Amino acid sequence: MMRKLGIIGGSGFGKLPGFDLQSTHGSVTPYGAPSGEIKIGKLFGREIVFLPRHGENHTIAPHKINYRANIWALKEMDVTDVIALAAVGGISDQCQSGQLVLPDQLIDYTWGRESTYYDGTGGKVEHIDFSEPYSESLRTILIESARQGGVSLIDGGVYGVTQGPRLETPAEINRMEKDGADIVGMTGMPEAALAREASLNYVCLALVVNAAAGRSPVEITMDLILKNLELASGSALELIRNMRELS
Ligand code: HPA
Repeated sequence: MMRKLGIIGGSGFGKLPGFDLQSTHGSVTPYGAPSGEIKIGKLFGREIVFLPRHGENHTIAPHKINYRANIWALKEMDVTDVIALAAVGGISDQCQSGQLVLPDQLIDYTWGRESTYYDGTGGKVEHIDFSEPYSESLRTILIESARQGGVSLIDGGVYGVTQGPRLETPAEINRMEKDGADIVGMTGMPEAALAREASLNYVCLALVVNAAAGRSPVEITMDLILKNLELASGSALELIRNMRELS
């Protein structure tokens, strides 16, 4: 089967710079509407399917995102592989602002989100294996691309996913660090689990945009986050530009 790449845009990626839009698709899934229209077009000459997670104008808070509809809509467009872009705070020392991280594990601290397609409706309950929450084959492709393109990318790390929308307290970050979390963000779950339930190859490409609470010498403001996001997004796009064809 031909593999087709989907990109989920996180904060700062309501639009993809350089994206050559070819068509848009309004979609209503059995779980409701996704965050916006699904956009098909070319990025660096490669056909991709794009969906901004927070809506095109960043109006949907992390806990209000219809993750089930988003993943369903991508699947309906025949997407097989997903790169989920995510702005995160850095907890461990190597995760400095501007750095890209490709986590290989996660811890889910979210609550109350619709987090499965297997909720018993239709008489089906299923327990997916989640020992490797991210696709190793797609992670390997991105790691190769980073190496070839000279893009700095941390291979591996634990993504701690919080409920938000507020940022954390320093005590919460200390606890997360003890738990083993390297980065903290608000949207990694249930997105990753739903992608697995839908049999998509899914990775999170995390962009560190601030030092996490208690580690930041300055107040963590949206301005700071957006400024650092601009820095890191150049590297993220460079990485995607260098990606070989999926096969
Ligand atoms: N915490 C949680 N989510 C985030 C952060 C953070 O520090 N920065 C960007 N998204």
